[in-house]
Amino acid sequence: MKVKILRQVHPGSEPYWEEFDYNGPAESSVASVIDSINFTDDIVTSDGKKTTRIGWECACLQGMCGACAMVINGVPALACETFVRDLKGDVVTIQPLKKFPVVHDLITDRSSIQENLKKSNIYIEEYDPEGEDHEHQYLAAKCLKCGLCLEVCPNYTTGKTFYGAAFANDCYLVASRNRSKSGQILDEYSKHFGLACSKSLSCMDVCPVGIPTLASIGKMNRKKSK
Ligand code: SF4
Ligand code: FES
Repeated sequence: MKVKILRQVHPGSEPYWEEFDYNGPAESSVASVIDSINFTDDIVTSDGKKTTRIGWECACLQGMCGACAMVINGVPALACETFVRDLKGDVVTIQPLKKFPVVHDLITDRSSIQENLKKSNIYIEEYDPEGEDHEHQYLAAKCLKCGLCLEVCPNYTTGKTFYGAAFANDCYLVASRNRSKSGQILDEYSKHFGLACSKSLSCMDVCPVGIPTLASIGKMNRKKSK
């Protein structure tokens, strides 16, 4: 199999493609494919050119940290949860997420996801043990902040005022756990999500932990109408 990777030395430099050969098992994840290319002192491209180690991020290798989010054959996905046997054709293309600034190769800066939550004060100040709908809270709390939902969202652009599905789910989570903050959270939710979401819902198709964002939207709308 050929593995084409879009590389970039540093944030300001020009991206370029490099192609590698992969002869390992089809049961491997894309994370293992990148590892196998990197796991040698002399990394060479398919045409025999010496090159540098591929930069990418991972922490858990089991779909729990969100660090390895990238675009694989045009689809935003976690590299450790995408398997060679499920990819079509004998060429796999791997690119960094396009909605976030590239730091190096496949590493992107997704700090805007946390920064947006901070800017809108979406954090628990006082835990309300009564809370509400613990089942949905549990689902919303699974968010990895991987950014895949933002990568596919037609309305999301880093640095703009629409904050996307990850923000909407956290708004629900905090508003349910700290109900005295609900009013302030609803204002921020409307400003940075509710008024601009066009309900394409592609965010739910790519979410690696299956968060039902549509249910979070419905629950926030019900809070608004109370
Ligand atoms: S909502 Fe899903 S896709 Fe979006 S950041 Fe959270 S885990 Fe990732
Ligand atoms: S390395 Fe943690 S989700 Fe892939």
